[in-house]
Amino acid sequence: MSSRATAVAPANIAFIKYWGAHDVERGVPMNPSVSMTLSRCVSICTVEAHPREDGRSGVAPHGEDCDGVGDEILLAGPDGNRPAPEFFACRIRDHLDRLRKLFDAAVTFRVATKNSFPAGAGLASSASGFAALTLAAVRALGLDLATDELSVLARRSGSGSAARSVLGGFVELPGGPDEGDVYARPLAGAADWDLRDVIAVVASEPKSVSSREGHRRVVSSPYYRERLALLPGRLATVRDAIERRDFHLLGPVVEEEGIDLHLVAMSAIPPIFYWLPGTLQVLETVRMLRLEGIEAYSTMDAGPNVHVICRPSEEASVVDRLGQLESVREVICDGVGPGPRFSEDHLL
Ligand code: PMV
Repeated sequence: MSSRATAVAPANIAFIKYWGAHDVERGVPMNPSVSMTLSRCVSICTVEAHPREDGRSGVAPHGEDCDGVGDEILLAGPDGNRPAPEFFACRIRDHLDRLRKLFDAAVTFRVATKNSFPAGAGLASSASGFAALTLAAVRALGLDLATDELSVLARRSGSGSAARSVLGGFVELPGGPDEGDVYARPLAGAADWDLRDVIAVVASEPKSVSSREGHRRVVSSPYYRERLALLPGRLATVRDAIERRDFHLLGPVVEEEGIDLHLVAMSAIPPIFYWLPGTLQVLETVRMLRLEGIEAYSTMDAGPNVHVICRPSEEASVVDRLGQLESVREVICDGVGPGPRFSEDHLL
């Protein structure tokens, strides 16, 4: 009998960035990272598991012929479901193959997925997307796994940040090289500290260099070692700030990290430029806001869009000011959230 499950998983914004990998394919980071799970920016994914008539769980070898097993991958939209672009469907099929092999499941999958926000523009759509896919597929297979195991499986999609999106609130993911330890741990719950993330979207097109390629390339930056040496101090500060709910302590480190990610990207060989003129305009505006006494700090993942972290009392001022900028196409108001959930609103 076929079975179906739908998961809703949020994106997350990293305060300490995972950037550079021991193993890109398995999402094993070079360094520990800390993030805040969001609430409104989510991926919704429905997975149907259909028993294979031949009873075989065997699949095409990884990366060789990723449509060999007849899994159907759809993008859900306002006008119904349509086939996903091949590069995207391939990554999803690879992950489904991984799960099928691991659990020796003689099934084919049908998947429909959608995001509540622009995909591929550095807003962590792979984190929410692969977390939602993992949770829905595992449930459709009738399995009930612990959160640590789900975090490991989400990471093995190749999106290391997906490992953090299986938890809500404030989350830490250790670095490698020991893969066994690399699953997300909670630092504080969503109810413990209400922080907001005002996202200034300056471009909604998919970025030109994937974060996967970024992880491979940034280790070539002459400043990469320097960054790794600074991280233990930053990590200690961020953990401490979260424990004490000390925004004044947290903010400057968050902003340093956002800039550092791009510093090592721009100095990689060959270099990667994610910033656009609008990115700089937002960064400058956030500095101006601080001079006016509105405490807010910017950070960016691998893309041109800027996440502005602030307390609830400052959110309206930040939204108002960013909304006035010519280069800002859209302002998304998000904030800390409780993590993924299952839904009965199926996309299939
Ligand atoms: O999850 P991945 O493998 O797509 O890596 C993305 C990592 C960054 O978003 C750039 C930083 C982070 O820690 O989220």
